[in-house]
Amino acid sequence: MPSTNHPHPEEPALAGVSKDARSTCSSKRVPLLALSAVDAYYGLAQILFAVAFEVRHGEIVALLGRNGAGKSTTLKSIVGLVRVAKGEIVVAGQRIDHLPANRISRLGIGYVPEDRRIFTDLTVAENLEVGRQPARAGAPHWTIERLFHLFPNLAEMRNRPGGRMSGGEQQMLTIARTLMGNPRLLLLDEPSEGLAPKIVEQMADTILRLKEEGLTVVLSEQNLHFAMLSDRAIILEKGRVRYSGTMAELARQEDVQLAYLGA
Ligand SMILES: Nc1ncnc2c1ncn2[C@@H]1O[C@H](COP(=O)(O)OP(=O)(O)OP(=O)(O)O)[C@@H](O)[C@H]1O
Ligand SMILES: [Mg+2]
Repeated sequence: MPSTNHPHPEEPALAGVSKDARSTCSSKRVPLLALSAVDAYYGLAQILFAVAFEVRHGEIVALLGRNGAGKSTTLKSIVGLVRVAKGEIVVAGQRIDHLPANRISRLGIGYVPEDRRIFTDLTVAENLEVGRQPARAGAPHWTIERLFHLFPNLAEMRNRPGGRMSGGEQQMLTIARTLMGNPRLLLLDEPSEGLAPKIVEQMADTILRLKEEGLTVVLSEQNLHFAMLSDRAIILEKGRVRYSGTMAELARQEDVQLAYLGA
């Protein structure tokens, strides 16, 4: 597994990012994503309670917590699939919590939900085409060929129908298709879930390569070992933020791990 020793989030490795994208990243002092005092409900049941955290440009931030802690609900509230009842969500200085999901997506927020939804009748290459959006300043620009370079497995099966891929391959395809939208922020809901150990390692490598490209990533995880590739950790319990710190700090704090992440 990758170590926790990564460059400082404000100085991301930006190999392959255009000069334009680079200057946009470094000139911004505001966080790329900021949640403040976010409450969210399913019906009458309150699920999120004053959730607040920030994500800076080029960081990988892990949203951790046990089953039902509110990780997926937090991601859904960012992308507009769960309404924010109170509080604010701001992306690069722009408030987004009142916008519909399609507008939020077009602001460059890519979201890969827990359930992989690929088109089973379409080939790998056709699935990728579905995700295409225009290039965006401040975000790495992806073409199908660049994605095949990042995901060599997909390149080998570019003409295969999505329905004839393994679960791990489908998971990679979902991420690749989301990247075709040229997001500047990528939200991944439990990317390692249900994957064979070898594929989990590939997934971790892929996410680190995305960081090197200058992409900002928020991933939800129950698997702390996998989440160790992140720069920082936010731990949720019962819809509240209980811990926020660097991944290196969390790795040393076994009491925190036991309290909020242990079985
Ligand atoms: N569509 C829904 N309607 C009602 N309650 C829901 C719905 N989806 C989730 N919940 C409840 O909201 C709470 C938070 O769920 P959420 O899916 O955000 O947790 P999670 O941290 O992603 O958990 P997991 O690790 O199991 O994915 C849980 O109590 C869950 O039962
Ligand atoms: Mg979830």
